[in-house]
Amino acid sequence: MKNLLFTIIIIFSISCQKDDVVENPYQLSYPAYFPELKYPLDTNPITKAGFELGKKLFNDPRLSIDNSVACSNCHVKSVAFTDPQHNPSVGVFERSGTRNAPMIANMAFQPEFLLDGGVSHLDFVPVFAIENQREMAESLVHVVTKLNKIDEYRQEFRNAFPNLDTITSPFMLKALSQYMLLLVSDEAKYDHVLQGIAQYTQDELAGKTLFDSKCATCHSGALFTNYGFFNNGLDSSFEDIGRAKITESDSDLGKFKVPSLRNIGRTAPYMHDGRFETLEEVLNHYRFGVKDSPTLAQELRTAGQLGIELSDDEAEKIILFLNTLTDYEFISNPIF
Ligand code: HEC
Ligand code: HEC
Repeated sequence: MKNLLFTIIIIFSISCQKDDVVENPYQLSYPAYFPELKYPLDTNPITKAGFELGKKLFNDPRLSIDNSVACSNCHVKSVAFTDPQHNPSVGVFERSGTRNAPMIANMAFQPEFLLDGGVSHLDFVPVFAIENQREMAESLVHVVTKLNKIDEYRQEFRNAFPNLDTITSPFMLKALSQYMLLLVSDEAKYDHVLQGIAQYTQDELAGKTLFDSKCATCHSGALFTNYGFFNNGLDSSFEDIGRAKITESDSDLGKFKVPSLRNIGRTAPYMHDGRFETLEEVLNHYRFGVKDSPTLAQELRTAGQLGIELSDDEAEKIILFLNTLTDYEFISNPIF
């Protein structure tokens, strides 16, 4: 009897993992090797109706002042919800921002948002985008007024959040979060190797070993970020002071959130201002381009030498490994 129960539990728990995702894509599921969940899901349980509503809002230009720019203008699915065209991202009236739009994937595990960590709850990030004069230049109050005039939205909000008579901003933000929370990228070759269903080539494996020893202090774990803030030597004086904008401390000048490297082969241009177009340029930066300043990360100054020592061949292998982080299922998932 005990054995039977045990078997049932095993079968049950196996069926609740990956396979179930195919049947219920509206449930947040992710591999055991991911970091712990940061978003308080109990305050905003994900439902199909909530997710679909969030997806619609994300793609709706009516969230901007002149109804011209949607979230998806700058966060494009085919490139893992980054912005491939503009450098940096362009908002309403062709206004250019100063920062390059980061990937939206695996948001449920991220403790702080924006490149300087200025927002600590996913629900509040869209407020920043909607009210930013260089992005959507709207006001939250006015967006909600617009939505309340659209019958379809009133119905969809009621489906997602029962008993909701009037659309209010907290619920709009919850719907957007439900959509973004389900954007989990966990089907790259990297994952398939961990799951034992794929194998690295010899060069990819060599690249991984190099990456682990030279890059993974910052780009650590299954999401390839420790979510810390570092100055990776792009400049010696800072047009964008990064983390110091939030902390107002000189010791944070020029520090930016370590970005996840998942899908990195698809998310060019790179760095907070999109200054590099290719991974070769990024590797060349770490090898030859690191600039000194008082806040430069320790790792990038070893034994008095600036940068990370790598041969051409080693740099190439690291890039081969980085390309195993592309998740083709993620960027072509019809549900997203
Ligand atoms: C004009 C381009 C643009 C538009 C439109 C835009 N974003 Fe962004 N998004 C950005 C940029 C640039 C950043 C980084 C900003 C920063 O760090 O200061 C960002 C950051 C984010 C982040 C944080 C990601 C992270 O890793 O920290 C999320 C989430 C996000 N945007 C969601 C949205 C949503 C939802 C909308 C629509 C309501 C939206 N964005 C509209 C450009 C845009
Ligand atoms: C000291 C910490 C640190 C180390 C070590 C480090 N990085 Fe970074 N990396 C960062 C930070 C911080 C950024 C973001 C800088 C910015 O946005 O301006 C970044 C950005 C990147 C980006 C661009 C990501 C994007 O989405 O724009 C790539 C690619 C990258 N690093 C690869 C590597 C590789 C490969 C190595 C090893 C050769 C490495 N990094 C070592 C901290 C580090």
